[in-house]
Amino acid sequence: MNAKERIDWLRNELHQHNHNYYVLNAPTISDKEFDDLMRELQDLEKAHPEYQDDNSPSMRVGSDLNKNFTQVTHKYPMLSLGNTYSEAEVTDFYNRVKSQLNEEFEICCELKYDGTSISLTYEEGKLVRAVTRGDGEKGDDVTDNVKTIRSIPLVLHGNYPKSFEIRGEILMPWESFERLNQEREAREEPLFANPRNAASGTLKLQNSSIVASRKLDAYLYYLLGEEIPSDGHYENLQAAMLWGFKVSEHTRKARTLQQVFDYINYWDTERKNLPVATDGIVLKVNSLRQQKNLGYTAKSPRWAIAYKFQAERALTRLNKVTYQVGRTGAITPVANLDPVQLSGTVVKRASLHNADIIEGLDLHIGDMVYVEKGGEIIPKITGVDTDARLMLEGDKVRFITHCPECGCKLVRYEGEAAHYCPNETACPPQIKGKIEHFISRKAMNIDGLGPETIDMFYRTGLVKNTADLYQLRAIDIRGLERMGDKSAVNIVHSIASSKSVPFERVLFALGIRFVGETVAKKLAKTFKDIDTLAAATLEELKNTDEIGEKIAQSIQTYFANSANNQLIERLKAAGLQFARAEEDTTGYTDKLLGQSIVISGVFTHHSRDEYKELIERNGGKNVGSISSKTSFILAGDNMGPAKLEKAQKLSIRIMSEDEFLDLIS
Ligand code: IVH
Repeated sequence: MNAKERIDWLRNELHQHNHNYYVLNAPTISDKEFDDLMRELQDLEKAHPEYQDDNSPSMRVGSDLNKNFTQVTHKYPMLSLGNTYSEAEVTDFYNRVKSQLNEEFEICCELKYDGTSISLTYEEGKLVRAVTRGDGEKGDDVTDNVKTIRSIPLVLHGNYPKSFEIRGEILMPWESFERLNQEREAREEPLFANPRNAASGTLKLQNSSIVASRKLDAYLYYLLGEEIPSDGHYENLQAAMLWGFKVSEHTRKARTLQQVFDYINYWDTERKNLPVATDGIVLKVNSLRQQKNLGYTAKSPRWAIAYKFQAERALTRLNKVTYQVGRTGAITPVANLDPVQLSGTVVKRASLHNADIIEGLDLHIGDMVYVEKGGEIIPKITGVDTDARLMLEGDKVRFITHCPECGCKLVRYEGEAAHYCPNETACPPQIKGKIEHFISRKAMNIDGLGPETIDMFYRTGLVKNTADLYQLRAIDIRGLERMGDKSAVNIVHSIASSKSVPFERVLFALGIRFVGETVAKKLAKTFKDIDTLAAATLEELKNTDEIGEKIAQSIQTYFANSANNQLIERLKAAGLQFARAEEDTTGYTDKLLGQSIVISGVFTHHSRDEYKELIERNGGKNVGSISSKTSFILAGDNMGPAKLEKAQKLSIRIMSEDEFLDLIS
């Protein structure tokens, strides 16, 4: 066998083993054997780049190249379904279909998978594109990420149509979801509220090798195209299964309304034993001819409906309400409950969100309250059993007026639901939160310090603000809980190295409300040093690109607080960068002065970021979307069709990479 033959053989084998494992749940070789075959393929592909294939099973491991997603217009819009929670409406749907069709019909009953929808395009048996729902008209091209999902076939077998789309749901199985959240908890990263958010968040990651590690799954439930094999939707799904797709094995055809209800009732409880989240049942008229006959409303098909399961609910007693103070000073009321079993876990606490919610529920201590889990990890209180209330007026829950941590009077900003503790500089959770933000990767990037260490430094009185960090000596901290000599030295060292972090990141690290990374960059560029920024008038601030009233106000409020100015003075004395380093301006021109440029597609000579930089260095402005003001589009390969269409409509010049490089050379 020569290399090409071996590569082909390995690819075939690995496609088949993927299918056996991820679709059929019936592996025929061990994981180790699989890994060995994959490694052999990867090695051969590396040695023979001439046999590169975008649909090779090795694409499943992802790549750590970063990319922005291109928007793609859906060939057929991605509609949603009409929803109902009531059995009466299911009956209405059935009767409406019956009277409109006036002939025999079947209903295909399916589980409603609770993930994120995807549209896959196959041509000549190969996956060519995977696009998210987006706004239904156009979505993001997430092909590279989708290729890492093992249950989605890259190459089909059997008698598939030449060209078609298949739609379905990408899911994160409960098991992967729980593991992911455990890992995130250990790294003190924010948790995903439910598998749906985790799946859609994962699909939008820039780095497909992380996607590959998250173990997503997919079920397909809708076939579209000109050459679909059968008139029956159910029959088409069975055919798709033979081509290699994962199709739910729980789909059934019903001939009577009673059979529809039997299906609903069975799955209402049985779904809890499934490995993935479901939130209802989808009912579809089975015949495509009859579907066509029934047609569509503006938003959804008349031939289908989704019946949503009631979220699980339990009744329990409210013992007290406690209040948590977040990093920004936002106050979250928490209901403390008599422990109660709900969807497999014991619930003791539930979020009450804000004062309006408490008021809306007219909560009293001792009330019997309904708790729901509705797919979210944090349960919520959705109602009160008022009949069970022991009427004691004094027990009404009244939102606190002062901060439970520092005693400061709470404020409520206009247009916001939350109450805040305004004591930014002395309220413990806020101080700790500020220090955590200060040391984070995108800010000062101080290694070796996590929230627990910060908490310990704070409790022992060693660090009360960010400036104190720069006074720490190794002898002060070694010997503290879990702190050896080596870690102590490392921490002090990494604090010291942060002194060279550039001004724009120091500015971001200060944690001025609404001043994120991008705003910090703009401010640093415009005002050049902290004193000029502190002295800027509201008008001057507002004249800065992308800075409006809200941010400008917040910056002024920050510098009006003397505690903040004292802190800055101490950080300055410690040697942090409070002025923008002189830029090397060689290579700057004004060849693109006054031009607004949109970048689109994939490039060969430079990365997108390098092109952005080149545009700015030559006096041009980068803009995100095409409008009549766009001067030209710098287009690489695979420019999104929506952008292309818009550019043509507005007659905007499309410039290739080479033309652009000529222009600025
Ligand atoms: S059919 C035109 N079938 O629910 C009909 N959708 O609100 C297209 N979903 O966006 C959808 N399971 O993300 C269909 N078995 C199933 C489904 C399903 C989950 C999702 C899908 C869709 C939403 C509809």
